[in-house]
Amino acid sequence: MSYLATTDYEVASIIEKERLRQQNGLELIASENLVSKAVLEAMGSVMTNKYAEGYPGKRYYGGCEFHDMAENLARDRLKELFGAEHANVQPHSGTQANMAIYFAVMGCGDPLMSMSLSQGGHLSHGSPVSFSGRLYQVTPYGVDLKTETIDYGVVEEIARKVRPKVIICGASAYPRTIDFSAFQEIAEQVDAICMADIAHIAGLCATGMHESPVGVVDYTTTTTHKTLRGPRGGAIMCDADNAPKVDKAVFPGMQGGPLMNTIAAKAVCFREALRPSFREYNRQIVKNSQAMAAVLADEGLRLISGGTDNHLILLDLTNLSLTGLEAEVALGKAHITVNKNTIPNESRSPFVTSGLRIGTPAVTTRGMKEEEMRRIGHFIATVLKDIHNEATIKKVGAEVHEMAKGFPLYPE
Ligand SMILES: Cc1ncc(COP(=O)(O)O)c(C=O)c1O
Repeated sequence: MSYLATTDYEVASIIEKERLRQQNGLELIASENLVSKAVLEAMGSVMTNKYAEGYPGKRYYGGCEFHDMAENLARDRLKELFGAEHANVQPHSGTQANMAIYFAVMGCGDPLMSMSLSQGGHLSHGSPVSFSGRLYQVTPYGVDLKTETIDYGVVEEIARKVRPKVIICGASAYPRTIDFSAFQEIAEQVDAICMADIAHIAGLCATGMHESPVGVVDYTTTTTHKTLRGPRGGAIMCDADNAPKVDKAVFPGMQGGPLMNTIAAKAVCFREALRPSFREYNRQIVKNSQAMAAVLADEGLRLISGGTDNHLILLDLTNLSLTGLEAEVALGKAHITVNKNTIPNESRSPFVTSGLRIGTPAVTTRGMKEEEMRRIGHFIATVLKDIHNEATIKKVGAEVHEMAKGFPLYPE
């Protein structure tokens, strides 16, 4: 029995139920992953006990010598991973990493250009329900409705008209490659600052599976918990010249004491990401996504943009007369966790949607390969095509359980 179970059985049993949910099902949420035991251990360590406001060598509290060591290690490893001149590892989340850049380079009411939420962007890129949409004057760009990919000519046209202070590139639900160099060129033409948010594809960028924006665009933000497979958190990279304003925007501009247990865990994650096996892992994420995409297309499902270059697939369920919500619920009953998602030219609300987002990072972490992806593709198609048949869902659920058993979360 764990120590927690002896002191707080209620919480311990909730955690155990969640562990079993993860073990017995298939996690296909594109923004999620499973961290290593080493990352878990660092997150649950005594590093959480300390206040360390400030930065290494310049803290507002005594007793920070080991926190300085941990934060320096995290910064150095992140810089090595991406070839960055400067790294800030303190943002508590991806949203806060983005907020820090906005605070560093924009004033209230400044014009901001970003991918619209309904076509793949993120809330923190200027949605009206986020601080970002309330503080800045946002002009969205989307995808070409025929190809369902970004049309850089149109992005340039909008940028020339709007003359934004900042152009954001990066997305939450875009299955294709993003041309960061093209965005930087457009930004230069209109004297804008270019910010890449690689929250989703950081692991792919770090390992050469996707162009890295670091050293190309002005600022790069990321989360550390998606394809990077680290603790839940954010990070920023930029040139040394821009470091002081970024650091000031994070602390004291926007946050108080850093989560030092998370920063220690980020250091562990970055070391894992520097190993050759992490490149193989990211290569497999993409191979897996493409193998599943091929099966789904063979089954007659419509893939937004016709396929995928990265870790995620976006399905349009219109031809099945299904909503994203119905699909998410039915697949959930079969222990396959996915999320409903808006698609280009969406006609439904974000709570219902016409699409489904499917990602392969977490199942790839469990060691699954193309063969399993093909089976999962068939599971998904079987449920979606017979969605009102409880017996079908139950049968698929039993097969999912059986398959999951063969891939333990923490075999060590
Ligand atoms: C592109 C992008 N940026 C930022 C974020 C925000 O990250 P967080 O949830 O850590 O605030 C996400 C989250 O999914 C994202 O997809």
